[in-house]
Amino acid sequence: MKAIVLRSTGGPETLALEEMPEPVPGVGEVVVRLKAAALNHRDAWIRMGKYAGIVLPIIPGSDGAGVISAAGSGVDASLIGHEIVINPALEWGASARCQGDQFRILGLPDNGTYAEYVTVPARNIIPKPKWLSFDEAAAIPLAGVTAYRAVVTRAQVKEGDTVVITGIGGGVATFALLMAKQRGARVFVTSGSEEKIERALTLGADGGATYKDENWVKLLTAKAGCVDVVIDGAGGTSFDAALDLLSPGGRIAIYGATLGPVHELQVRRIFWKQLTVLGSTMGSPEDFENMIALFGKDGLRPVIDSVYPLERAAEAHRRMDLQEQFGKIVLAIA
Ligand SMILES: NC(=O)c1ccc[n+]([C@@H]2O[C@H](COP(=O)([O-])OP(=O)(O)OC[C@H]3O[C@@H](n4cnc5c(N)ncnc54)[C@H](OP(=O)(O)O)[C@@H]3O)[C@@H](O)[C@H]2O)c1
Repeated sequence: MKAIVLRSTGGPETLALEEMPEPVPGVGEVVVRLKAAALNHRDAWIRMGKYAGIVLPIIPGSDGAGVISAAGSGVDASLIGHEIVINPALEWGASARCQGDQFRILGLPDNGTYAEYVTVPARNIIPKPKWLSFDEAAAIPLAGVTAYRAVVTRAQVKEGDTVVITGIGGGVATFALLMAKQRGARVFVTSGSEEKIERALTLGADGGATYKDENWVKLLTAKAGCVDVVIDGAGGTSFDAALDLLSPGGRIAIYGATLGPVHELQVRRIFWKQLTVLGSTMGSPEDFENMIALFGKDGLRPVIDSVYPLERAAEAHRRMDLQEQFGKIVLAIA
């Protein structure tokens, strides 16, 4: 089969198309003939060598949608031919509260979805909503479940809440915007680009400010008023600023640290303002099912930034490295 294989870490050029053996399903597994995959920032961290537990060579990719082409022993063979979406949270574990110690994410250490075929446990497949294209379905899994858990399960955003979502161009952030709006919240966004803020407004955002303006917290407070919830995936100075932005009693769901650590955390703001800090990672199987259900016939649709053929994965990564995207970057697999 054709697959993008990472043999050494580095720039986008390290992602090369190769001929690889087609995978065979083990006990309880299925093989999926992929029609589309999608990028997540995790893939870029792995490619750059900035992710824990890197094993090489590896076929990257957590997101995928396709058709079941083979079933291993213990799996109902009538599933062959079914159109499915993959839940990339492997071995979440027994508790909905947090993942167990066997938890891992498809695409490292297991070979991922930048390929014509991938093997996954049969319990990690879910029927593809039939009104979604394969490109749309592949855009959803990792970012969709991360946004769902942060917005719904952890921050419990409800009607009337004022929510700030940072870095709205990001894959997770665009899903968070759609989900928070669907729940009846007022939503404000930050971005490095005015154009992306304009695009967020067309998706229902109520306002925004660019984080490149050093007064962005003041500007956004003037527009948003009391902020009940911040959904942040940037960490670093963005997390720090969120503690100023939040009103007393507010909550922050934090799912990423693109900017790295917070260098001088003024803890006083957390206790004096009675803030709640909610860490959030991926989501349980129940989160995943509930999230996919939001993409019903008349429901949400993922925001797709661009679609590249699989063999141009390096170009797709370059776009993510340059932060040019608004929403999800998809890889179409012929
Ligand atoms: N814990 C988990 O389960 C989990 C799951 C998914 C992702 N993550 C992590 O979450 C982060 C985002 O992931 P993703 O896949 O959505 O990434 P992505 O699509 O590459 O988006 C990253 C976004 O970060 C924003 N950003 C950059 N500098 C910023 C700043 N100073 N303040 C606020 N935002 C800033 C940019 O927004 P603009 O383009 O609008 O400027 C950029 O588009 C990554 O660090 C990823 O590793 C964690």
